[in-house]
Amino acid sequence: MRIIFKVVLASMSTVKTAEFSRVASTSEIPPGIMRKVTVDGQDVVLANVDGKYFAIGDVCTHQEGPLDEGTLDNYEVECPWHGSRFDLRTGAVQEGPAGNPEPTYEVRIDGENILVRAK
Ligand code: FES
Repeated sequence: MRIIFKVVLASMSTVKTAEFSRVASTSEIPPGIMRKVTVDGQDVVLANVDGKYFAIGDVCTHQEGPLDEGTLDNYEVECPWHGSRFDLRTGAVQEGPAGNPEPTYEVRIDGENILVRAK
């Protein structure tokens, strides 16, 4: 029993997970709204789609346009500079010219607090 416990502890110590950061309150991001927040020093766009929150990188992978200044259309955000579209659920490019996906972030709601961490 003691050996198993030590093995579990040893394996847990090697798994490094990012901490959640409180980035906003739910009342600040109503449905249909997106906003730039900072998570671990990275710019992230946080969006509310019909009451569900999603977060992906805010800097467009094409030429670094600010996605939070773009257009939110259902589960997609469109870059204001050249129109690349990214899926908020996966970070995947839905329409170019961007060729690379955005990083995705995990979102958790704790009461009125919106918490985000890198996946
Ligand atoms: S910078 Fe976003 S599409 Fe060009």
